[in-house]
Amino acid sequence: MAEELKIGVLASGRGSNFQAIIDAVTAGKINAKIAVCISDVKDAYALERARKNLIAAEVIDPKVFQKREDYDGKIVETLKKHEVNLVLLAGYMRIVSPVLVEEFPKKIINIHPALLPSFPGLHVQRKAIEHGARFSGCTVHFVDAGMDTGPIIIQAVVPVLQDDTEDSLAARILKQEHRIYPEAVRLFAEGRLSVQGRRVVIKGAPECRDEFLANPPVRE
Ligand code: GRF
Repeated sequence: MAEELKIGVLASGRGSNFQAIIDAVTAGKINAKIAVCISDVKDAYALERARKNLIAAEVIDPKVFQKREDYDGKIVETLKKHEVNLVLLAGYMRIVSPVLVEEFPKKIINIHPALLPSFPGLHVQRKAIEHGARFSGCTVHFVDAGMDTGPIIIQAVVPVLQDDTEDSLAARILKQEHRIYPEAVRLFAEGRLSVQGRRVVIKGAPECRDEFLANPPVRE
């Protein structure tokens, strides 16, 4: 029998993407258990969401550690304690070091609120507007040693409107994040993702192309 999928979530903030994953697991769309939510921020609302759903919630305070590697060592230890075999970054505001990445190769997934490789890093909704991009969106990708550089699993596109503010664009993108992040985790859970070089191949996936068609970039 295949090993049970046990998800560990790393989150620093409100955790709405985490909630989307919780909802998909609860609805039986993702065959997995969410074993733990770990945060670097003690009052992150994501922790509250974990507790409400009887998921272990742990805070690991970065200030206690001298180096990022030491901090990530503690994260690895905690994930292992909960027997995690898939790590989801959900609004996790720290750069992960090789200590974490090498322990979970192709088993760490992130959601980013732009169409990578455009606009990696922070404040990317603002950057997309300021750059004059006509479209932006979100990207679910595997995490590698770089920043927002890992193989892309799913993307969704939204228009950037002339009167958009950072907040209005972020809200439009977030709606799509909540749709594609659980979808990517479902594909992982079903063993349908394989990484070939930079590319992620999705087994038996007409929805790969439908993904774009189902999400045409029209004005809401
Ligand atoms: C999302 O926009 C995500 O793409 C980015 O940080 C934000 C987190 O939001 N990495 P939430 O905590 O999931 O609500």
